[in-house]
Amino acid sequence: MIDQAIALVQQTLDGAEAGHDWFHIERVWKLSMHIAQQHPEANAEVVALGALLHDIADAKFHNGDEQLGPQIASQFLQEQGATPELIDQVVYIIRNISFKNRNEVSHYPIELQIVQDADRLDAIGAIGIARTFNFGGYKNNPMHDPKQEPRTDMNKEVYKKSNGTTINHFYEKLLLLKDMMHTETARKLAEERHQLMLTFLDAFYKEWNVAL
Ligand code: ADP
Ligand code: NI
Repeated sequence: MIDQAIALVQQTLDGAEAGHDWFHIERVWKLSMHIAQQHPEANAEVVALGALLHDIADAKFHNGDEQLGPQIASQFLQEQGATPELIDQVVYIIRNISFKNRNEVSHYPIELQIVQDADRLDAIGAIGIARTFNFGGYKNNPMHDPKQEPRTDMNKEVYKKSNGTTINHFYEKLLLLKDMMHTETARKLAEERHQLMLTFLDAFYKEWNVAL
């Protein structure tokens, strides 16, 4: 089933925005399996399938449709002969992994905790910086505008519509992630990646201001 899921994802995400392509999925899958090694209580099949299918139809690339991803995933899993319980567990991850839903989830099963931590690790550090500028470029957002303040109090609807600057995205999301990790393994990995972003921002402002 894992091999079939890989094939489906590679095919579906062919030509996707580079921050949400197969290589993002592959990194999240590898990070998830790494974190899961420290959690024998987690169901490894749920973790793997959740990681592989979590962005199969990301709502922000499908006119905000939040049903499509769960639909495609559950149809695929049904065709693969997955049990209803497995389907429920994987679809739960897909529905609840997103940053924008962070205030809506009341119960985080360990499998969701693991895949969410992995997805968040891939949003920070060197890869996080690269993905964020790629997304900003894809949206044709400004990189930086000293007159625009970051907004950290955005609710889900405002966050989704936000076309602020890419630099502000660091304050609105990326720098918050380190303290939102569920697992100890991810918290440790996040530390170095967080520091790298702070170093990057320092250098960015210095060069922006041509402070020689
Ligand atoms: P999730 O996929 O968890 O719902 P987001 O939709 O917030 O999270 O974003 C996933 C990634 O896409 C971010 O980590 C970032 O790299 C990029 N991204 C999302 N929104 C923006 C934005 N407004 N500006 C720049 N990058 C963004
Ligand atoms: Ni993702």
